[in-house]
Amino acid sequence: MIAIAGSPRKGMYSDRIAERFSSLSGAELIYARSLKAGPCRACGYCKGEGRGRCVQKDDMAAVLDKIRSSDGLALISPVYWWQTTAQIKIVIDRLYALKAEDLKGKKLAVIMNGEAEESDAEYRILSEQFSQMADYLGMKFFFLGVGTPEGNEELFGNALLKAEEFADTVRQGIY
Ligand SMILES: Cc1cc2nc3c(=O)[nH]c(=O)nc-3n(C[C@H](O)[C@H](O)[C@H](O)COP(=O)(O)O)c2cc1C
Repeated sequence: MIAIAGSPRKGMYSDRIAERFSSLSGAELIYARSLKAGPCRACGYCKGEGRGRCVQKDDMAAVLDKIRSSDGLALISPVYWWQTTAQIKIVIDRLYALKAEDLKGKKLAVIMNGEAEESDAEYRILSEQFSQMADYLGMKFFFLGVGTPEGNEELFGNALLKAEEFADTVRQGIY
């Protein structure tokens, strides 16, 4: 599995959750902020003469190759305005270059962490949104929403425990 961490903040909550999740699930972790990756230009090159290759020659080529040869993709992002960070959105849009068979039947695991508590509607909205995407792609969907208010080490500790359980669930493919 390939895991992509989406926070611009090094070593903060999402990074630490992503690191825990990756070490327990066996995923290879990539930090989106370290990638040289431009947003999708919707030029259609990947669907035509590019044959699954993007016209932009940047770090996403290697990431897409890793996804092609893995059993799934994990996205770990802070909630920014009820959505993922821009760094993760770039990666999501660039999945457009993949062919249907590159993702079909694989796992899509999403962890969203926000300042809001876990009962907040934002996690339900995000889960539903990614679930639709997974359905469309024929992927097995796993979702975890955790609240990590700034400076609250107790809630962060709970979030890490949930990420550990989630890693187990995803690794075993129980869904
Ligand atoms: C631009 C911006 C928008 C945010 N929007 C939300 C939001 O809609 N909901 C929420 O719960 N938290 C929101 N937050 C808070 C972050 O999701 C939260 O602090 C998160 O733990 C940050 O993750 P990090 O420590 O990995 O950077 C926002 C933070 C920023 C900087």
